[in-house]
Amino acid sequence: MKLSKLALACGLLSLVAAGCISNRGGTPGDGIFGNQVEQQSGPKAIVHLNPTQGHKANGIVTFTTVTNGVRVQAGLMGLDPGTHAFHVHEIGDCSAPDASSAGPHFNPTGTPHGGPESAHRHLGDLGNFTADANGEAHLDFIDSHLSLTGTNSIIGRSLIVHAGADDYTTQPAGNSGPRIACGVIQKQ
Ligand code: CU
Ligand code: ZN
Repeated sequence: MKLSKLALACGLLSLVAAGCISNRGGTPGDGIFGNQVEQQSGPKAIVHLNPTQGHKANGIVTFTTVTNGVRVQAGLMGLDPGTHAFHVHEIGDCSAPDASSAGPHFNPTGTPHGGPESAHRHLGDLGNFTADANGEAHLDFIDSHLSLTGTNSIIGRSLIVHAGADDYTTQPAGNSGPRIACGVIQKQ
């Protein structure tokens, strides 16, 4: 359901228009929009996000290797309207009721926490997104740091959505609040 909704909103449009692809405030990479279909032949991954205890947030996120990084497409729901942080966390284990089992942010380069466009960031620092009045969010952006291959691959890690916003500054996790949804990133 969520994927088909996303496809309706973005799939066809992205062939001809850049308007559907946007990130959280920065500028999408150049040169990607003219031949999106050809760019999507690399490794792919998917996450089914499930709510943690006491929360309702859920959704599906796909990761597709493109020339200048990884394209992230998400259909999320069950959120409180407003700003939420999301990150790739180190451990692919969502079994704890509060998803604490997923560990800290995925940080193979040993750098400080930051925002997606910061000079220094954890590899897993995807920043913030905004849920609408219905508690839904539809995202489509390219992150130049993520990888689906090699030692820094995010496959087998977890993706977590937080109750609050990431301030991109507070160490080690941006003061993002409780973990409200979690899923393991699986190769597709
Ligand atoms: Cu997180
Ligand atoms: Zn971080």
